[in-house]
Amino acid sequence: MTVGILTVSDRASAGIYEDHGGPALRKACEGYGWTVSAEAIVPDEIERIRESIRSFSAQGCGLVLTTGGTGVDHRDVTPEAIRGVMRVEVPGFGEVIRMKSFDITPNAILSRSLAAMVDSSLVIALPGKPQGAVECLAFVRGAIDHAVKLAQRQPTGC
Ligand code: MTE
Repeated sequence: MTVGILTVSDRASAGIYEDHGGPALRKACEGYGWTVSAEAIVPDEIERIRESIRSFSAQGCGLVLTTGGTGVDHRDVTPEAIRGVMRVEVPGFGEVIRMKSFDITPNAILSRSLAAMVDSSLVIALPGKPQGAVECLAFVRGAIDHAVKLAQRQPTGC
């Protein structure tokens, strides 16, 4: 599994604080035996998020994980960025993430986490809190291998 990790945060991208979400996800991915081949930090801006996701996919990342920007703050646009470039959404990921996270914190109901097929990648949008991102990845880990295989399948012509 080749993974790209995108941290979406105005403040981390401006160097106001250190990015902890990206490194936490990298560690979790490496623990699963996956290779993290691309990483970036972008502000909460739709076009920057889209460009990075598509670039990671073009570089061969079957799985793209984003962290941050899934809430309801005025600057949170990660779901909108993904929806603008996706082929299809895969709603089960967001459903499981919210349901399982709600047992940990009622604030999980504020998450608009989602997964979608973008180009030849499965993209999963995780919350910005490092521990939350790692927890949410673990909740859906079992479905990722198969979903990435489907994302990478070539379209069959008629
Ligand atoms: N899910 C888990 N498992 N753990 C968390 O700490 N934080 C919640 C939620 N989901 C959280 C979680 C909070 S407080 C918010 S505001 C939303 O995710 C959105 O987070 P984001 O805007 O940083 O992406």
